[in-house]
Amino acid sequence: MELEDLPGVGPAIAEKLREAGFNSLETIAVASPAELVAAAEIGEATAAKIINSAREAADIGGFETGDKILERRQGVGKLTTGSQSFDTLLGGGLETQAMTEFYGEFGSGKTQIAHQLAVNVQLPLEKGGFNGSAIMIDTENTFRPERIKDMAEGAELDYEDVLKNIHVARAYNSNHQILLVEKAGELAEELKNTEKPIRLIIIDSATAHFRSEYVGRGTLADRQQKINKHLHDALRFADLNNAVVMITNQVMVRPDAFFGDPTRPIGGHIVGHTATFRLYLRKSKGEKRIARLVDSPNLPEAEAVFSVSRVGVRD
Ligand code: GTP
Ligand code: MG
Repeated sequence: MELEDLPGVGPAIAEKLREAGFNSLETIAVASPAELVAAAEIGEATAAKIINSAREAADIGGFETGDKILERRQGVGKLTTGSQSFDTLLGGGLETQAMTEFYGEFGSGKTQIAHQLAVNVQLPLEKGGFNGSAIMIDTENTFRPERIKDMAEGAELDYEDVLKNIHVARAYNSNHQILLVEKAGELAEELKNTEKPIRLIIIDSATAHFRSEYVGRGTLADRQQKINKHLHDALRFADLNNAVVMITNQVMVRPDAFFGDPTRPIGGHIVGHTATFRLYLRKSKGEKRIARLVDSPNLPEAEAVFSVSRVGVRD
């Protein structure tokens, strides 16, 4: 079934919807009427009608019984980090249909882990991958194909093939970044029935643009609202594509903290509540890093030691 088959959607509206990233029944089914109104210049009532038909057609929305949810959860995959102790901390690896946030100071290994995951997602199942490809939204211009080459070799993969399955987009500002998640949906749709479907989306960093663009108290609510929407778009992507969402986040120093660790992640509770798993990374001696699982729906708070070497993330 195509968008044009929905009642009220002619070729012109279908095209506008696709341009805005609503390229499948699923993406429309989980949209809000206001989003469709803005995307296709239609009335609120028409938008609601289109969404309802898409929900029926895509079998999305409404109540689900526990056994159905269990069935979907059984489809959840776990992506290896490359380090056994790190994987154990995460209950086996980074989950699909979920968002995992890595926060920590500069050099703590966030971008290195992002690179490693983009390689690992291409591994076969028995090696902890999904035989899939990756999307990387790079906001700080820190994607380095040379590092992918090192890590691909470390994983005994052909680096040229590996590079071909990593789709990188540089995000120039926060609005562009938001748009790229919509575009990611289109790319995933295109690659859905190929040998290498998209199973990982990385946003490195998820918060930097927002932090630099929205300064001053008056803009805080606006910023939080935008971040919130952006992260929910990414989560939606995870659900629709059974994909892992990996986001990175910097920390800021809290001048009023007299005891304990004075750093805390940017974006406050908005990021905290949206991310399913939160990991705090710290530097240790040399190549060693410490990851602390600070938030998870079903795992205890704990730490793991791993290292970042030339060949990538290891124990
Ligand atoms: P910011 O984005 O600045 O907040 O930091 P980040 O957390 O993304 O840090 P990143 O992942 O870029 O970590 C950089 C660190 O990784 C370097 O300081 C090195 O310790 C390590 N690293 C990067 N490349 C290599 C490499 O080729 N070999 C080894 N051994 N370590 C590397
Ligand atoms: Mg980085």
